Amino acid sequence: MVKAIYPGSFDPLTNGHLDIIKRSIEIFDDFTVSVLNNPSKKNLFTLSERVKMIKNTIKLEGLEDRVNVDSFEGLLVHYASRKAAKVIVRGLRAMTDFEYEFQFALMNKNLDKKLETIFLTTSEPYSFISSSLVVEVYRLGGNVADKVPQPVFECMQKTI
Ligand code: PNS
Repeated sequence: MVKAIYPGSFDPLTNGHLDIIKRSIEIFDDFTVSVLNNPSKKNLFTLSERVKMIKNTIKLEGLEDRVNVDSFEGLLVHYASRKAAKVIVRGLRAMTDFEYEFQFALMNKNLDKKLETIFLTTSEPYSFISSSLVVEVYRLGGNVADKVPQPVFECMQKTI
C-alpha cells in the first residue's frame, strides 16, 4: 500500500498537472493532491479557489474515488508524516526545473529519511506549460483554453 502526495501551489492547476495526476494514480494506491497554504506568498487564486478548481476538475474527469484533494501549511515533511505518506510526487518539465527540484528533494530527504521523492517527466504536449505562463498569456489576450482544465478556465474568466 503506497501512499503518495502531490504537493504544489497549483495557482492554478494546468493540464500538465492533470497529466501527472492521471499517471500517478496508475502507480500509487492512495494519492492526494495537496495545495500549499502559504499566506506570505502572493497567489493569484485563494487557497479555497485553488482547492475548488482541483476538486471540480477531478470530478469532471470522474476520478473522485481515486484522488484526494487536500491542503497543507508548514513543512511538507511534517504534513507527509501526519498523513503516513511514503512518497512525494513532483513533475519535471525541463532541465531548468531540475536544479530546484533536486535541492528540494535532498532537503526533504535530509529532514525525513523515510520519505522518497519520485519525479514523473512531463508528457511532451505539456512541457512548455506552467501556471504562471498560462496566467500571463491569458491576461494578454492569448488562448489558454486548451492548456488548463475547463473548471480552471471558467474560474480564470471570472477572476482575471
Ligand atoms: O508548485 P510549487 O510552488 O513549485 O510547489 C512547491 C511546494 C509547495 C511543493 C514547496 O514549496 C513546499 O513543499 N513548501 C512547503 C514548505 C516546505 O516544506 N519547505 C521546504 C522544502 S525543501
